[in-house]
Amino acid sequence: MRHRASFLQLALFAIASAVILIIVAYAIPWLPYPASREAGRINFVYWFAEWISIGIFAIVAAPLMYSLWAFRVKEGDTSDGPPVHGHTGLEITWTAIPFLLVTAIAVASAIVLAKNGDAGANPTRITVTGQQFAWTFTYPNGQTYPILRLPLKRHVLLTLTSKDVLHSFWIPELYQKQDAVPGLPTKLVVTPTRTGVYPVICVELCGLGHSTMRSTAIVMDDAAYDSWYSGAAKAAAAPAPGGGLAVFNANGCGACHTLAAAKAAGKVGPDLDKLKQEAATAGQPLQAFVKQSIVDPNAYIAPGYQKGVMPATFGQTITGPKLDQLVQYLVSNAK
Ligand code: CUA
Repeated sequence: MRHRASFLQLALFAIASAVILIIVAYAIPWLPYPASREAGRINFVYWFAEWISIGIFAIVAAPLMYSLWAFRVKEGDTSDGPPVHGHTGLEITWTAIPFLLVTAIAVASAIVLAKNGDAGANPTRITVTGQQFAWTFTYPNGQTYPILRLPLKRHVLLTLTSKDVLHSFWIPELYQKQDAVPGLPTKLVVTPTRTGVYPVICVELCGLGHSTMRSTAIVMDDAAYDSWYSGAAKAAAAPAPGGGLAVFNANGCGACHTLAAAKAAGKVGPDLDKLKQEAATAGQPLQAFVKQSIVDPNAYIAPGYQKGVMPATFGQTITGPKLDQLVQYLVSNAK
């Protein structure tokens, strides 16, 4: 018995396959909404390849589904199927079309890669330093911060380095990922297009505290960024308006430590409600013990905890009056 698929039947199968795929592709938010020009271009390449894949799948799935239905074996039929030979025209077609499509994806990707690597004539330069287990961001004025602030719609050239092991810098909304390698500076160009607060995540397993190696990126409009930047050096040297609690919260101490006064319940590091007892165990005066534990956390490790989990970067990012405020705050709440 011979069947001949009508063009209409095949077209209906192809349309049904495509509709299912389009629903899966669009109903689920697979990727965050892009927040930079570079992310927008990557998003374009993603959907360009996605639409080609949807088309190819539909064209392949239609004759497959049709054949499963039309050529299924009748009950009791044990005869061989008809001999099928190659079809030169078909083979040339299904080689040439994918070749053109894959070439188109390669060309689009190459153009996007080249554009995404172009920092323009005068980018804002920020050095990103990875260190077990924290990120720090150093600006052209020499100031170093635990939070990344980015100006809206300006080219930013990030230079990434690491002080110890491999880390990888990722802001999901900016799409790009880049390794931070000790001794080998790597580059990343970002041009933010949406103001907002985004997570900075380490995406290279770098040790015991890898999952806690997170920071925040704040994209600010021009005026806000400029006023922050011009006042930043002064603000860094001034006491925090909210006192020691504000310093505690601004540096995310509560993510790892318990401190009843700050309503913090972290369990990664030692309990800060028991600082007096811990200083006694370490055999040090309380105030000196607290200060050393912040700026040089590996100098003494409380029993039951591991070296290198607390970032050694707070000595650079919490300085001057803010450090004194934090030490006084912890000392005054110590039990
Ligand atoms: Cu740094 Cu994972």
